[in-house]
Amino acid sequence: MSFGLLFHVQSKLLLLWLFLFLCSVSAATITPGSSLYASNPNENWSSQNRTFFLGFLPSDPPTSPPSFTAAIFYAGGIPIWSAVDSSGGPASVDSGGALHFLSSGSLRLVNRSNATVWDSNTEGLGVNSALLDEFGNLVLRNGSASVWSTFDNPVDSIVPLQNFTVGQILRSGLYSLRLLKNGNLTLYWNNTIEYWNQGISSFNGTLTSPTLGLQSIGILSISDPKLSTPSIVAYSSDYAEGSDILRFLKLDSDGNLRIYSTARGSGTKTERWAAVTDQCQVFGYCGNMGICSYNDESNPVCGCPSLNFDPVDHKDRRKGCKRKVEIRDCPENATMLELEHTRFLTYVPEADSQVFFVGITACSLNCLVSRSCEASTSLKDGTGLCFFKQSGFVSGYQSPAMPSSSYVKVCGPVIPNP
Ligand SMILES: *[C@@H]1O[C@H](CO)[C@@H](O)[C@H](O)[C@H]1NC(C)=O
Ligand SMILES: *[C@@H]1O[C@H](CO)[C@@H](O)[C@H](O)[C@H]1NC(C)=O
Ligand SMILES: *[C@@H]1O[C@H](CO)[C@@H](O)[C@H](O)[C@H]1NC(C)=O
Ligand SMILES: *[C@@H]1O[C@H](CO)[C@@H](O)[C@H](O)[C@H]1NC(C)=O
Ligand SMILES: *[C@@H]1O[C@H](CO)[C@@H](O)[C@H](O)[C@H]1NC(C)=O
Ligand SMILES: *[C@@H]1O[C@H](CO)[C@@H](O)[C@H](O)[C@H]1NC(C)=O
Ligand SMILES: *[C@@H]1O[C@H](CO)[C@@H](O)[C@H](O)[C@H]1NC(C)=O
Ligand SMILES: *[C@@H]1O[C@H](CO)[C@@H](O)[C@H](O)[C@H]1NC(C)=O
Ligand SMILES: *[C@@H]1O[C@H](CO)[C@@H](O)[C@H](O)[C@H]1NC(C)=O
Ligand SMILES: *[C@@H]1O[C@H](CO)[C@@H](O)[C@H](O)[C@H]1NC(C)=O
Repeated sequence: MSFGLLFHVQSKLLLLWLFLFLCSVSAATITPGSSLYASNPNENWSSQNRTFFLGFLPSDPPTSPPSFTAAIFYAGGIPIWSAVDSSGGPASVDSGGALHFLSSGSLRLVNRSNATVWDSNTEGLGVNSALLDEFGNLVLRNGSASVWSTFDNPVDSIVPLQNFTVGQILRSGLYSLRLLKNGNLTLYWNNTIEYWNQGISSFNGTLTSPTLGLQSIGILSISDPKLSTPSIVAYSSDYAEGSDILRFLKLDSDGNLRIYSTARGSGTKTERWAAVTDQCQVFGYCGNMGICSYNDESNPVCGCPSLNFDPVDHKDRRKGCKRKVEIRDCPENATMLELEHTRFLTYVPEADSQVFFVGITACSLNCLVSRSCEASTSLKDGTGLCFFKQSGFVSGYQSPAMPSSSYVKVCGPVIPNP
């Protein structure tokens, strides 16, 4: 055998080896020019060991005609990230939708008409590959450097190894979660009303760079170089149990922040912790003028204050209520509807203004004569406190155990609920 031939065979072997090597790598690497189509939901880009997938999932709840979201999901189909539309919610596309990893370096979700629904905006940043790793992070890379990642662009969920830092936001509809510089973890309605927060009690001072993280065994904690040990926010109720379980933190569309766990391949998730234990205390859960209460099965239900109101949407009682006759259309004849065992939720920053120390009669009558007052709550808990609710957004909570009484301005006569 001549030297030349030997070299030829060896280089062929080398090429074969190189080819096999590239095949094993490309199981997880996504190259520009690739696309996924909503019409073929079995298509996906997966992580090396098929722990996480990027592909199209049917919208939840299902729609007619069917629509789809482009999501990263855990083995079994539980989503942990999705492309979002301008409202910040999961972007849905029709069956003509596609997710393109463009050669320009952007990841783009389009609908049937090719209109861009979502874009990673990474054009011209040298992106030449994408990798979905075993922890659920999709990274757009220039060589091996990360240019953009889903961990750095969270939507409504956080998984283990994902760092949630000051300035990042989880969103679900009007609700959002932020981590403040002082380590406070805070839930907001419409970016302003703080209906839940948890601070770091063990530390008194300023933090350097607080980070919220969920350990895979189910501990939600805030760490910082200034803290000797992470400050624990919550334990998942299945803490340290089981194997092959993914735990994740999610801001749900009902405004509650929960830890869920899901067993690999099961496709179902189980609630393990909720930040707001009393769902009716989530601001705006029942919409403007909606009243939250619990039914016999202890599920939260939404109703209207009286028959002076109509639901905004009979099919979705969480959309709130509106007066049948507006106050401005019944000059001289407005009156106060009394609601026993009812309170209108009052949180920071609302609480500061419009708080009075008056009896129940004045709490109702003063509101009636005040132009800007829409409703009022007398706590009746011995504090003598009366809250005025200004026009805007009023969120009610009714429970037989609640001492408070509330008053709502309506056009007479009052027509109580049956
Ligand atoms: C991912 O795609 C493969 C085919 O490429 C398919 O066999 C598999 O079922 C898909 N997995 C999921 C979870 O959709
Ligand atoms: C994938 O699975 C193999 C075999 O179980 C394991 O050795 C390897 O570490 C896994 N890779 C990752 C990235 O987890
Ligand atoms: C959508 O855009 C792609 C390339 O950008 C093109 O090939 C395709 O024809 C377009 N489809 C429609 C319906 O415009
Ligand atoms: C595609 O998206 C555009 C822009 O969001 C929208 O106007 C259009 O109705 C959508 N088309 C379909 C078929 O969903
Ligand atoms: C991509 O990475 C290379 C090597 O690190 C660098 O020289 C180049 O500037 C990067 N491209 C862009 C567009 O950032
Ligand atoms: C999260 O933060 C830790 C500590 O700063 C760091 O080691 C790790 O790489 C970060 N994880 C990601 C995915 O950025
Ligand atoms: C949310 O806040 C914005 C401005 O801060 C306001 O215009 C909007 O009406 C608010 N949404 C609701 C539902 O009250
Ligand atoms: C932080 O949270 C605590 C309650 O845990 C609260 O008393 C405090 O006012 C909060 N601070 C800020 C700046 O939100
Ligand atoms: C926090 O520090 C301030 C000033 O250093 C001090 O007045 C206050 O009592 C401290 N609070 C706690 C809870 O340690
Ligand atoms: C004014 O209110 C009273 C009772 O509050 C009611 O009987 C009457 O019908 C109302 N008048 C008009 C014009 O709405």
